[in-house]
This record gives sequence, C-alpha cells and structure tokens, in this order.
Amino acid sequence: MANEVRIDLTDPDLFADGPPHSVYEYLRDEAPVYWHEPTSNTPGDEGFWCLTRHEDVNWAVRQPDLFSSVSGGDRGGGGTLIEDLPTGIAAGVLFNMQDDPRHRHVRRLVTPSVSPGRLRQIRAGLADRCATLLDEALERETCDFLVEVAAELPLQAIASLLGVPQEDRHFLLDWADATLDYDDHNPGETSRRSLEAGAAMSAYCARLLEEKRAFPADDMLSVITTAELPDDAGPGGPLSDLEQQMFFHLLVAAGSETTRNSITAGLLAMLDRPELWETLRADRTLLPAAVEEMLRWASSTVYNRRTATGGAERHGRLIRPGDKVVLWWQAANFDERAFADPLTFDIRRSPNPHLAFGAGNHFCLGANLARLELTLVFDGLLDRVESIEPAGVVERTRSNKHAGFRHAPVRFRPVAG
Ligand code: HEM
Repeated sequence: MANEVRIDLTDPDLFADGPPHSVYEYLRDEAPVYWHEPTSNTPGDEGFWCLTRHEDVNWAVRQPDLFSSVSGGDRGGGGTLIEDLPTGIAAGVLFNMQDDPRHRHVRRLVTPSVSPGRLRQIRAGLADRCATLLDEALERETCDFLVEVAAELPLQAIASLLGVPQEDRHFLLDWADATLDYDDHNPGETSRRSLEAGAAMSAYCARLLEEKRAFPADDMLSVITTAELPDDAGPGGPLSDLEQQMFFHLLVAAGSETTRNSITAGLLAMLDRPELWETLRADRTLLPAAVEEMLRWASSTVYNRRTATGGAERHGRLIRPGDKVVLWWQAANFDERAFADPLTFDIRRSPNPHLAFGAGNHFCLGANLARLELTLVFDGLLDRVESIEPAGVVERTRSNKHAGFRHAPVRFRPVAG
C-alpha cells in the first residue's frame, strides 16, 4: 500500500481536484502519527508530524500548552502554517498565531462583535444584500456562482463587521486572492503579485487604522485600535501597531476566503445530486443539518499547524519539543471512525462533529457568522430556484491550505411564477 500512495502533502497539485482522499485514508489507517519528510516546498528543510484521525486531531488541539500556535523548543520561527513564519512579525503577533493568555485577552475583546446578539442585529441587512445578489444572479442566463454570489456576501459581511467602507471591498478581495491562492507561487514562497498586493494592503490598512483611532465607531477595528490589555496579557496596554495591522489582514482573509469556498462546495455537492435540492425545497427544516454537512464536505481550511513545546507520545510515536505537528482538519472530517459513510454528502447527517472550524481555544471566531451566511444564501436560493445545472468548467484553487474555487459557472432554473 505504502508504495502505491505517494505522500506529499506539501504539493498543491495533490489538492487540485479536491481532497486527496486516498492519501488521507492511508495515513489514518496505517500511519495516524506520520512523520512527513521535508520536500522542495518546505523551506528550512524540516519535516513535520501529520495527524489525520478525528480523535488525534482533537487530542492535540485541546492541549494548547503542549501544542503552541506560536512556537516551541528552540525554534526561531513558528505559526500555524507548515512553513515557519518569523516570530514577532507573524507568529506571536497575528491573533490566530498567539498563545494564551494574550490570545485569550484579545479574543475576549472581539467576541462581542460576532456574538449571537450582534449577528441578529446584522442579519436583516445581510439578508437584503444576499437577496440583491441572488436576484441579480438569476437575471442572467448563467452565473459564476463563486464570483457573483459566494465571494460577495462574506466580503460585504466582513467589511461591515470591521468597519471597512463597502466601496473598498473589491480591493480587499484582490488582495486576498493574490496572497492566499497558490496559483502563481508555491507554499512558503512569494510572487511579485502577492508582494505587491501585500504592500498595497498594508498601506490601505495603515490609513484605515489611523481613521479608527481618530474616530472610533461601533465596529471590530475600532475595538482593536482603542483597546487596553491588562498586564498579564504580556505586555499590557494597547495592541502594538503591527498586531492591529495583522488583525485586519487576518480577518479579511479568514472572513472572506473560507466562507465563499464552503458556500460553493455546498452548491456543487447539490449539483451532483439534484434529488437533494428537491428534498430541501420540500423540507426547509433540514437546512441547518445541510449547512453543517456543507461545512464538513468543503473542509475549506485544510490544515493548521502547531509546534510541540514538550515531548508527547501518541500511537507509539515520540513527538519531541520543537517538532511541527500538523492538524489535517480535512482528513479528520472524512474519518470513518467519526463519520458513517464519510464520502457521502448526507444532508441529514446527525451527529456531525466536523472540525471544519477547528476546536479548542482557537475555535473559529467567525463560525456563527459563516453559518449565517451559508444559511442566507441557501434559504434565498431555495426560495427562488427550482433546479441548478452546471454551465461550464469549475476551476479550483491550487492550495494545500485553502480548499477553494476560482470559478463555478452554473445555470439556475427559477421557480415558476
Ligand atoms: C466556512 C468558513 C470558515 C472556516 C472553514 C473557518 C475555519 C477556521 C479554522 C479551522 C480555524 C482554527 C485555526 C487554528 O486552530 O489554528 C479558524 C479560526 C479563526 N477564524 Fe475561521 N473559518 C471560517 C469563517 C470565518 C469567518 C467568517 C471569520 C470572520 C469573522 C473567521 C475568523 C477566524 C478567526 C479570527 C480565527 C482565529 C481564532 C482564534 O485564534 O482564536 N473565520 N477558522
């Protein structure tokens, strides 16, 4: 078996046609704690551990002291990508690449901005935006669902949560595309496009943060720019300029890229099984379970990495301090030990303990917002659309980090009358 399965989880081409199920299955069955040798895509020439079973990923992610999101051992860099990012510039500074207690303090500050109460407040506005997008898409004979619907709504939502003027949102999307998509560069590398986009985004962000400091309003960036952390957040006082900038970058990326891919993956799963669309149209109470299944199916964040701060033993393998440990959410979400018939898209799946949003102290901050966005899109479509057909070639992004799409042309047949 080992000879038949080529294991290089750093190769973006392995993910070009969707999740590499045969590799995941082999790893889960034969090597649940697998030492991945370095490849040409791992700068620093360092290997890493791969966890692919649901229970093992859960085991690691729930021990943040042992598996750090910053660094560990005598490692200079760190973070949650396979490649090391410089500590003090990205690792330890980006909110999702901080450890507690600082991470916990920052999380407390921003949680109210995505609380159920806050989401109830923005729901009607988002539903209106969603209705407009869907009505426009239905007016055309064919629609690039990814570009015209799935990418638009999350971007509008994150722009309004952060307090970014709506007219600037496409600028944000271009930036996210250029830096997160490995179309013209491999993981760990930059391209001219990604560097230029990064520089433009930094300049934009610096101006916006200045504005928020001067005129704070009722939005997440205002909270971040005016916050004072207690001393045990180490250091206390305001977040550093870099932390504030990185927070903005993270939220734009996390808020837009992942959700659009889950929405699109959900729609494409329905395209393959038209009877599911009919079932959902007949019984809308199934929508919440269907949304969870879309999230599992898409697994749009493929992995996050941690670094061991101490030694650990699992399945007879010894993880040493400083070792990189990669949590493959996508592999865990298709683990037959946790999900019956995992390769079937089942809109009635219950329970559905997917790890699409991660788990533990870094559990996705935007999970409920993402759920709301998926619900609004599919509720709106179920109201308006009788059936959906493919209308061209679906293009996926080339990435082992974000399972996504670039184009998804479809034709909607509107409900009669
Ligand atoms: C379907 C859509 C989404 C998916 C699949 C997703 C996935 C994830 C995952 C797997 C993590 C855990 C990272 C780790 O443990 O290292 C995470 C964290 C995070 N997500 Fe999401 N996410 C989605 C939508 C969003 C949205 C809409 C936002 C915007 C508010 C967002 C903001 C964040 C933030 C800020 C974190 C870091 C949380 C922390 O470190 O405490 N995500 N997300």
